[in-house]
Amino acid sequence: MNNIRNFCIIAHVDHGKSTLADRLLEITHTVEARKMREQVLDSMELERERGITIKMTPVRMHYKLLTTNYTLNLIDTPGHIDFSYEVSRALRAVEGAVLLVDATQGVQAQTITVLTAAQEAGLAIIPAINKIDSPLAKIEETKKEIIQLLKCEESDILEVSGKTGHGVSKLLETIIEKIPQPRQADEKNFRALVFDFKYSNHAGVIVYCRVMDGSISRGDKLSFAASGKIFSTLEVGIFSPEERAVEKLSAGEIGYIVTGVKEPGIAAVGDTILSSKNTLPALVGYERPLPLVWASFYPQSGDEFDALRHALGQLRLSDSAFTIEEESSGVLGRGFRCGFLGMLHLEIISERLRREWNINLVVTHPSIAYEVETTRGKKITAYTIMQFPDYGEVKSVREQWVFAELIVPPEYLSGAVPLLAKHEAVVGETKNIGNRLVLHFEAPLRELMRGFFDELKSVSSGFASISYKLLPELRSANVVKMEVLVADEPVPAFGRVVARGRAAEEAETAVEKLSKILPKQLFEMKIQARVDGKIIASRRLSALRKDVTGYLYGGDRTRKMKLWQKQKEGKKRLKEKGRVEIPPEVFIKMLT
Ligand code: GTP
Repeated sequence: MNNIRNFCIIAHVDHGKSTLADRLLEITHTVEARKMREQVLDSMELERERGITIKMTPVRMHYKLLTTNYTLNLIDTPGHIDFSYEVSRALRAVEGAVLLVDATQGVQAQTITVLTAAQEAGLAIIPAINKIDSPLAKIEETKKEIIQLLKCEESDILEVSGKTGHGVSKLLETIIEKIPQPRQADEKNFRALVFDFKYSNHAGVIVYCRVMDGSISRGDKLSFAASGKIFSTLEVGIFSPEERAVEKLSAGEIGYIVTGVKEPGIAAVGDTILSSKNTLPALVGYERPLPLVWASFYPQSGDEFDALRHALGQLRLSDSAFTIEEESSGVLGRGFRCGFLGMLHLEIISERLRREWNINLVVTHPSIAYEVETTRGKKITAYTIMQFPDYGEVKSVREQWVFAELIVPPEYLSGAVPLLAKHEAVVGETKNIGNRLVLHFEAPLRELMRGFFDELKSVSSGFASISYKLLPELRSANVVKMEVLVADEPVPAFGRVVARGRAAEEAETAVEKLSKILPKQLFEMKIQARVDGKIIASRRLSALRKDVTGYLYGGDRTRKMKLWQKQKEGKKRLKEKGRVEIPPEVFIKMLT
């Protein structure tokens, strides 16, 4: 155990964690040079294509310093705020963290958030400036910011380049020197903290864990602390970086356990695995992440419903951060209401369903949860427009707010301030980090999810960064339900809850868009938006001109009259029935 070091790399998104991890794998000969490719730990197709880390990946490396061989366990973590939950898990499984700061960007909002989490977890922190090879690197400025943040000495800060490999051996040596070895363990009892898991059809749940006490081998009887479920270990192994079976997993190590458990809902991140005769208590787990954004997924064709259910179940087995619940909508049929950590999380899951499971999806407008008090005194949590009570039934609405920290170079402040106003932000304290401004503000979560991040990127040319956390109290929300009607019939999937002040604009946009993409029908019909029981935007879609008598030659007047009469009746029936068949592609176009 003296020769084990467990650590992770924490940083703001794109500061170069995965690239640095590549160099660490190379220098330690963990991955053969011929198998090396960029960002080798980002194995998901989507991660590689988008250049982002979604899942955390553990890997074991070996390094010889002087005459001693060390085992280094690295957990690569995602940097995007939507996946900060993954970071918090990794922090509990290690003793130290490399705080990586991009020299071309300086300290950014997520740098501060992840650093705070690492400090709270009591980890040893090794500050390192990355991308020093870049002509845009501002090394001295970045060092000053780090010193301000960590209150460390300049000599504590390492300079590295994940691209060229500069400073990477020194970093490994500092990791060995400064990160403590795993704490003294209980020899007799086995305890391991589950920080991730996946599911295999033939082997059941495979938990990724940090062994805190004792050791285990194949055949040992273990149990999940939360459920009490007992299982016989089918295999134990390590990540090199691919899974490799080993004889034994011991205290201080990071590895996997194949449980054979196939029941759903048994494995949970943050649970403890115990030896069945264990006398120690379960380890302190993680807080469950709360979904912030909801959207419903419907298959484009009803035949794909079972495939969608299966795919969501599979995804849920390896991503405990999103929630699913079956629901049905008159027009869209059967589907699922899903909860996500943020918009990127939603996008990634829907993209994976399309690519990995080939499911054609209709995704409804993302929404946050609103707490509605009805005029009858009932309290409802509305996750979707369908659950939001109608006009006349709403007494008051409350919603979630966030506390946010924005770091922005002063020259972009004039672009950021109007954006904050537009998104109903209440600005608080401001301070400086190096030459940049740190601005604190509070804003409705709804507004942050309404294109805020993209707009911020564009007004600051990507130089502003933001992190946020939910405020505990709900606040009064000035929002209304906007319904979209086709031929006088509301189409729930097109409706949404909007800020009252923006209702007119949203209504116009919705009816205009729908009138352009909805195919004409045999009769003229209205496309309208309704708020508070009043129509506030309307378009007319003219009838499809179809001469039903076209194929009749000459003057067979009675036949023609008969057909015209039939068409008229058809139109009347359609009107009475009031339902217009809306093809799936209209939903897709409308909801994207
Ligand atoms: P997430 O996991 O998505 O947060 O990203 P990351 O922190 O793992 O960053 P990644 O390694 O994907 O690198 C982001 C970008 O920076 C890529 O375009 C890299 O090629 C580039 N990059 C990484 N390290 C260096 C470096 O040392 N020098 C230079 N010049 N570019 C680098």
